[in-house]
Amino acid sequence: MSDPAIGKRAAARAAADLVESGMRLGLGSGSTFLFALERLAERIQQDGLRIAGVATSNGTAEAARRLGVPLTTLDDVDRLDLAIDGADEIDPAKAMIKGGGAALVREKIVAASAREMVVIVDDSKCVLVLGKKFLLPVEVLPFGWQQTERKIAATGAVPTRRIGKDGKPLVTDNGNFILDCRYDGIPTPAALHDRLNAIPGVLDNGLFVGMAGRVLVGQKDGAVRRID
Ligand code: A5P
Repeated sequence: MSDPAIGKRAAARAAADLVESGMRLGLGSGSTFLFALERLAERIQQDGLRIAGVATSNGTAEAARRLGVPLTTLDDVDRLDLAIDGADEIDPAKAMIKGGGAALVREKIVAASAREMVVIVDDSKCVLVLGKKFLLPVEVLPFGWQQTERKIAATGAVPTRRIGKDGKPLVTDNGNFILDCRYDGIPTPAALHDRLNAIPGVLDNGLFVGMAGRVLVGQKDGAVRRID
């Protein structure tokens, strides 16, 4: 296993072990969350853990079905007890960039529906300032998307429409495009978040500010550092 995978797996398994029987869970997306889903499946089979999860992407829903993790929908629950999800970058104030897997819109709805969002990352995701390395994903409606792109560029970004593995523009689970935006660092994430979401045609952006609860940071040696 490569180094980031050791940290991802350690953080993910520690988060899955916070889950208690009877909980309604938000199921995140991405490679880190997949380790948590595998641990939840193990606990269901071995310990009789009873849970129901709301998936943040079609990919996660498929994986949950394959692993035997029961699914529910946001329409069938009042509130989720916990949402567990990865992140692409996280800063010391626990502001994050998410959306590397193009699932940011559903991830944010699900996290906002939970009493707590538990974030699982390996230590390479911890940065001092967001957006110096990772591009900020912004989900935009296909209708008039180039107009939307120009307005996003006016916030100081260089946006590029994301291309999928098939060589065609990537279409999200919601039927939209992702613009990956290069900024020279994002020192005020809350302000940029609001500015981007005020642009017509922007559905949401990958800045998650004031949403993270406990953060579990997996280290290269498999230890887990916890930030409350
Ligand atoms: C999915 O859209 C993302 O927000 C993921 O949670 C994030 O990209 C982390 O992905 P990995 O766990 O694969 O690094």
